[in-house]
Amino acid sequence: MRDRPYDVVLYGATGFTGKQAAQYIARRVPPGALRWAIAGRDRAKLKAVKTALGAAAENVEAHVADSRDHAAVATLAAQTRVLLNTAGPFARYGDPIVAACVHARTHYVDISGETPWIRSLIDRYHAQAAAAGTRIIPGCGFDSVPSDLGALLVVRHLQATLGAPCRQVTAYFQLAGGFNGGTLASVFNLYESGQAAQLQDPFLLTPGIAPSREDNERQQDPVLPFYDAGIGGWVGPFFMGPVNTRVVRRSRALFEQWGESYGPEFRYQEYLKYDPPLAAVKAGAVSACLALFQGLLPLAPTRRLLQALAPPPGSGPAEATLDSGWFRCELIGQTHDGRRVHGLIADQGDPGNRVTVKCLCESALSLALQADELPGGPTRGGLLTPAAGLGEVLAARLRAAGMRIEIGDAALRSASGKRAEIGG
Ligand SMILES: NC(=O)c1ccc[n+]([C@@H]2O[C@H](COP(=O)([O-])OP(=O)(O)OC[C@H]3O[C@@H](n4cnc5c(N)ncnc54)[C@H](OP(=O)(O)O)[C@@H]3O)[C@@H](O)[C@H]2O)c1
Repeated sequence: MRDRPYDVVLYGATGFTGKQAAQYIARRVPPGALRWAIAGRDRAKLKAVKTALGAAAENVEAHVADSRDHAAVATLAAQTRVLLNTAGPFARYGDPIVAACVHARTHYVDISGETPWIRSLIDRYHAQAAAAGTRIIPGCGFDSVPSDLGALLVVRHLQATLGAPCRQVTAYFQLAGGFNGGTLASVFNLYESGQAAQLQDPFLLTPGIAPSREDNERQQDPVLPFYDAGIGGWVGPFFMGPVNTRVVRRSRALFEQWGESYGPEFRYQEYLKYDPPLAAVKAGAVSACLALFQGLLPLAPTRRLLQALAPPPGSGPAEATLDSGWFRCELIGQTHDGRRVHGLIADQGDPGNRVTVKCLCESALSLALQADELPGGPTRGGLLTPAAGLGEVLAARLRAAGMRIEIGDAALRSASGKRAEIGG
């Protein structure tokens, strides 16, 4: 692997997220510390991306490879140690890329939240990638890094400080930001391709594990808002919950398999949290809008209408929104006898862009620059999750990149913090 010409190839570099990822790597990584290249399907667009990077990317090469050109994709995957993919909808463009990475034993990260597609990758490639020690890690964006890493860190802190297994982790999100055209295209594609029915399965990403009836009932996605006495506030369904919860449950299952259990009967759930004034009204209104959106998506005529109104692929929020966005995720871990550990993950910047790009690029850099420190050592592989494949290494990199990640007493002290304290 060390003989390959590149440490990282950024595929899909011409997209709304891909361009930001290229800027992030160019700004963040000192010259000479990483051998990297950009790639995509359009030579002229790639040239424009490279020009925009300026002097910092003087030696960054651009490779043309349409995802439908299997030979070009195979050549690209064999030239790098890590392939970072932002070309989505992933269910539409991602298959040849992942196949090439598994074949070439190239580590892979992306920002897919398309769980039916991720499930199909698990079925096709987990065994082969595990045997070869190749880390294939979808979901390295805002979905699902804060949820997945947060759950892992809270569980491990609880186990270390309280000496007990973890019974459950609950995450409470607050956020502001915008939506990319590419993200909405991926949502529409789920419904057009007939894969949406699978979204309902709470254990979609843990094949081979039969949950108990009680487990299955208790881990269904929430649909109604309610007053959560545990945190003393109103909460409701979080639109990313059906993605993030599946990823956290996969991490739990993988760690269980490796003898590093979260705890027997471990459960994970997440919500949007609403602050006063009018918290109950806000929770009701947002939950109703979400239910309406989810109700309209399966119907072809209303979906076509939503598609016509949505921003097109390639577009996204204005620069001001990218900078002014933010998120905050409070986590509470609990033992069987009710003792608690708190966690807090927060950052400034639009979650779907600034935060996503930071999570994704630091995931790729974890694989490229700190491979020897990753959880499980150099032989661990498979269709992994951010927590199971990158763990503490990613957490440390994100902290160093300004993300606020506090677990234990520090998080408890911050639990009543205000919006102004969010930035890293
Ligand atoms: N996890 C998260 O938090 C998160 C956040 C944001 C986005 N996302 C996901 O990331 C994906 C990209 O989002 P985006 O907003 O960046 O979308 P976008 O701007 O539409 O970018 C899509 C990229 O895919 C490329 N592409 C299209 N067809 C291709 C083909 N046949 N071969 C190779 N490349 C092809 C496009 O190339 P051209 O430029 O040549 O058209 C472009 O580079 C979406 O699936 C979205 O859901 C996830």
